[in-house]
Amino acid sequence: MADSADPAARRASLHGQWSSRLAFVLAVAGSAVGLGNIWKFPYVAGQNGGGAFVLVYLLCVFGIGLPIMMAEIMLGRRGRRNPISTMALLGREEAGSGRWLWVGVIGMVCGFLILSFYSVISGWTLHYMVLAGRDAFAGADAAALSDMFGALVAAPWTLAGWHTLFMIITTVVVARGVEKGLEQAVRIMVPALVVIMLALLGYAISFGGFAEGLEFLFRPDFDALTASSVLAAMGQAFFSLSVGMGAVMAYGAYLPQEESIIKTSVAVVSADTAIALLAGMIIFPIVFANSLDPAEGPGLVFQTLPLALTKMPGGVFVGTAFFLLLAFAGLTSAISLMEPVVAWLMEARAMRRGAAALLAGGAVWGLGFLTVLSFNVLADFNFLRGTFFDNIDYLTSNIMLPAGGFLITIFAGWFMCTNSSADELDPQAGVVYSLWRVLARYVAPVAVVLVFLNAVGALG
Ligand code: PHE
Repeated sequence: MADSADPAARRASLHGQWSSRLAFVLAVAGSAVGLGNIWKFPYVAGQNGGGAFVLVYLLCVFGIGLPIMMAEIMLGRRGRRNPISTMALLGREEAGSGRWLWVGVIGMVCGFLILSFYSVISGWTLHYMVLAGRDAFAGADAAALSDMFGALVAAPWTLAGWHTLFMIITTVVVARGVEKGLEQAVRIMVPALVVIMLALLGYAISFGGFAEGLEFLFRPDFDALTASSVLAAMGQAFFSLSVGMGAVMAYGAYLPQEESIIKTSVAVVSADTAIALLAGMIIFPIVFANSLDPAEGPGLVFQTLPLALTKMPGGVFVGTAFFLLLAFAGLTSAISLMEPVVAWLMEARAMRRGAAALLAGGAVWGLGFLTVLSFNVLADFNFLRGTFFDNIDYLTSNIMLPAGGFLITIFAGWFMCTNSSADELDPQAGVVYSLWRVLARYVAPVAVVLVFLNAVGALG
């Protein structure tokens, strides 16, 4: 059955299925919602001038990211195995070439690279959870908070310690399997995070800077929009939605046949986008109310939120809970970054889940030191885009994810026969299916290519 030639016979994955549609939605949402929404979106939007960037981001999310997410989940469920084997199998079945497996291979490498820095940043949130719990922000002004952040990233051992802890937790959870624990965690975590964020939004509305913050976020200033910020917006869309590297493909492999991929994708993409915008609506009012710099960079959330926390009632509790939930959101994304590799080691290399998780987790842990050192010892070691962290971040979000997503949508839109894709997405092949096909065949791939060409200056 492992390599059954008949897709209809592959009704179950090689190991496990989600217990329900909700479980799958939660898992994909857990993958999508993470540091990308709350840490990265505000700072990248801030660096790229706000409004116009946000508009391009939204276009990329719904025009490119959404159809690619559907394609990716569909391929995962069709293949019912890890992304490499799925692409090899479907490549042979649908396109007569097993070489499509390279899409899976590149994705897996990309997931490794992302997780190596993702874990370090998740470590920052754990550190800030402890700081918030100890009321360390009390009375601090913007300058003091900036020093506090500076002191954290200047300390390689502290960063290494938190990174190590986070990777241990991730490895243990992945070793226990996709379903146990994960479902429950996401079911509680995402709603709780949203509630805490709404409380923070309340603060943002009542303490000034709200109008300015909204204007920055939603009024497009097209002069601020450069070719590289368009690429950054597209990269951020891929990163935030977790598409282009096989994470949702690996999860799709465990999706029961009768569940709707279209509905799931629309729900997850909408929730992910709402949470990113909510984060922006909290951060930028604080930025403007305190005359801070929106283009501050990766430290933005950590230097702004504590300002609000010191002033709001119950700030110690709200702050601790917020950073804890953020670390949780990071964990559920980290798990999805590791699952493709682990599934591959199990299925193609016959390893046990525990051993596979340990091997992958250990490798990512080692690689993470490049990011740890990028903020201190190697901070002045710059090449191409900057530090190691800057380069890994740029390479994965802006190049590898869009390239992977491009190949996925080309495969699903052009190589897969209509019967197969309609069978997975919408057996009646109604308007929604036709719309998906137009987006997957034309809009998404053409847009990715245009953004790439524009970024390298080929469009004049
Ligand atoms: N989407 C996750 C976030 O926003 C990060 C991620 C990227 C997870 C790619 C899986 C794959 O934090």
